[in-house]
Amino acid sequence: MSVRGLAGRNIVLGVSGSIAAYKAADVASRLVQAGATVDTVMTPSAIRFVAPLTFQSLTHRPVVTDLFDPRSELSIDHVALARRADAVLIAPATADLLSRMAHGLADDPVTATVLATAAPVIVCPAMESHMYRHPATQENLERLVQRGVRVVEPAAGRLASGQHGIGRLADPGLIIGTVRQVLGRNGDLSGRRVVVTAGGTREAIDPVRYITNRSSGKMGHALAEAARDRGAAVVLVTAAPVGPETAAGIDVRPVSSALEMMAEVQAAVERADALIMAAAVADYRPAAFSSHKVKKTQDQWELRMVRNPDILASVRTTAVKVGFAAETQDLRENALAKLKAKGLHMIVANDVTAPGSGFESDTNQVTIIDRSGRVEELPSLPKMDVAHEILDRLVTLLP
Ligand code: C5P
Repeated sequence: MSVRGLAGRNIVLGVSGSIAAYKAADVASRLVQAGATVDTVMTPSAIRFVAPLTFQSLTHRPVVTDLFDPRSELSIDHVALARRADAVLIAPATADLLSRMAHGLADDPVTATVLATAAPVIVCPAMESHMYRHPATQENLERLVQRGVRVVEPAAGRLASGQHGIGRLADPGLIIGTVRQVLGRNGDLSGRRVVVTAGGTREAIDPVRYITNRSSGKMGHALAEAARDRGAAVVLVTAAPVGPETAAGIDVRPVSSALEMMAEVQAAVERADALIMAAAVADYRPAAFSSHKVKKTQDQWELRMVRNPDILASVRTTAVKVGFAAETQDLRENALAKLKAKGLHMIVANDVTAPGSGFESDTNQVTIIDRSGRVEELPSLPKMDVAHEILDRLVTLLP
């Protein structure tokens, strides 16, 4: 089984002295909740914004605040944390810290850790706009990028000064998604291109109304995240809203209708190794789109529908094709028939009426059937675990 996401990983969280330091507490908490071991290292100015006790309480680990503190783990062996780390995440990174990193200084616990580690380093700048845009800061960032440091760009919005502009610490979800991607870069899908579809398509009737289905996009989004976390370059064609942790490091193509999805899938799949269609594509769309809102003048309204193309069956590709079959009866027979009709390598079938399965649920109970007719019934699992089970099998089918 491959390494999955953050569970069991050692993350060193470096915090420097920005007002955004309080947001690092949220990042620490989420990393811990995802199963990571988090060691917090703070600069002297960071501890003026947030108490080390905050991080100690959230991570259940001692916090390193002083290079020369005899009780500190860093002073016992000043490279111990750096050596053990799977990734070093610096959030927030001030202009001053970026400058000192760029110049290879090691005069505080954070820069000392960065210099001593062989693990990937991720920096999340946070500062006032003019400091961020200053050529000195931009040159420092460029230098760090050339050294292989990954930068999570700050967001635009209201800054602590009251001004609006770029410089807010990136969304914690985006930071964590980026850490997941960086941790998985040498995973078993490294160098592979995977296209994933998700969500229920919306077929417009007029500018305010559409027909859709109950798909939440959760299964497809979990697949896209899992593939990213295993090193794949992922294109996610989705009709569902995408959160920042999902979107991090993924090429997201939002779509609405089946026809839009088809165009995006066809474009994306040309250079792909695998296509996983978890989307619930509407089988029919309104025959005509009314450019004006349809008025309620009649007692009855008959809507004529036409068939949508079958994306999975008609897409031109050499990629390994994985489909889904949401069934309410005769699960295996129906799924196997779809696998053959659509030329699939594998199909993931689920009984959407079963408890803990299907639409909107966070868990899914699926049966995986492959070309050779092998049938595997999995227990009810969180959708992220189902995603990894599917990818475990997909990896073996890739040329
Ligand atoms: O035939 P059925 O809709 O049950 O097939 C489900 C599988 O086919 C899913 O993988 C779905 O994404 C895909 N599909 C498609 N285009 C359609 C309908 C379904 O690609 N128009």
